[in-house]
Amino acid sequence: MDMVTTSAPGKVHLIGEHAVVYGEPAIIAAVGMRCFVSAEKSDKVSVVFKQGGYENELPVEEVRGIGNKASDLWEDGNKSGDFSNVFDFCKGNKFCEVSIGTVLNDLGINEGVSINIDQNVPLGSGLGSSAAYSVALIKAISELFGKNLSLEEVNRIAYRLEQFKHGKPSGGDNSTCCFGGLVWFQKGNPNTIKSMKEEIPYKLENFVLAYTKKPEKTTGELVQMVMNLEPEYREPRIKALGRATLEMREALKAKDFGKVKELINLAQEKLAELKVSIPEIDKVCEKVKEIGGAAKGCGALGGGVVLCYHEDKEKLIGTIKSFGIEPWEADLAVEGVRKE
Ligand code: PMV
Repeated sequence: MDMVTTSAPGKVHLIGEHAVVYGEPAIIAAVGMRCFVSAEKSDKVSVVFKQGGYENELPVEEVRGIGNKASDLWEDGNKSGDFSNVFDFCKGNKFCEVSIGTVLNDLGINEGVSINIDQNVPLGSGLGSSAAYSVALIKAISELFGKNLSLEEVNRIAYRLEQFKHGKPSGGDNSTCCFGGLVWFQKGNPNTIKSMKEEIPYKLENFVLAYTKKPEKTTGELVQMVMNLEPEYREPRIKALGRATLEMREALKAKDFGKVKELINLAQEKLAELKVSIPEIDKVCEKVKEIGGAAKGCGALGGGVVLCYHEDKEKLIGTIKSFGIEPWEADLAVEGVRKE
């Protein structure tokens, strides 16, 4: 096989981010912006990451060593409860070598590979760019070397890579980027990862994404901030988000979009109370609410995209544009990881 190209979508939480870390369910949609990864055999490990303006070439052993180092640092972090060393080690473009090294180690591959990354999921937007990349990378390398991985196996390794970036993530992001569609996700032993296709077979329409600004804090830091809140303050809000997710499932099934809007706005209220919203997100949400729609921040928040809904999509787009934001109209519940 000469070259393999794969792609995986980003994701957007319809509801349930942050609460999902505490075992509450979340509804997450694969979003129609994809990360493409091409892999070719080579005598070294080389990587070209277009959007990061990054190129590098290293011996296979060195890259596998980088993968092992990240793994050791994560284990240390897991013992001490402080993941800052692994976060520092995996920061920025270094994650390219960390991820490739980890995949080679996990699959027992001792050969070189040349990787080309074309990332169309906007970075740092709450749309799961790192999960989309990880899933596409694992699929590309495994296909190139003839490893017949199930989606569950791809997802298992992707979760490992997400741990290097986020410490102890819920696993919702990588699962949605891997399996695609609309996913009911709940952390547990094992996780519940359920396609909602049968319950919600229709196309989700009239959702628009509004990008606010690059978050100043990482997902790991924002999750930690919520964890640092007093449990008596945090818990009722986490529980309220969990209940709203259960109600959202019923509202979507019944196509009751009045209720869907109410729940989206409630989720934003609770996320703001958990102190992960920022004035830029609040402003978009208020304006969308004013015109009779609904909006909430996505992912870890702290910036990134706002998910907006209104039955009159043109009116929604006009409102978002009116305060200088170019809306993104992405399809929801798209196909998961695939070979191109
Ligand atoms: O910001 P993102 O796209 O990495 O999403 C994070 C979602 C959280 O629920 C805040 C964390 C998690 O692990 O699920």
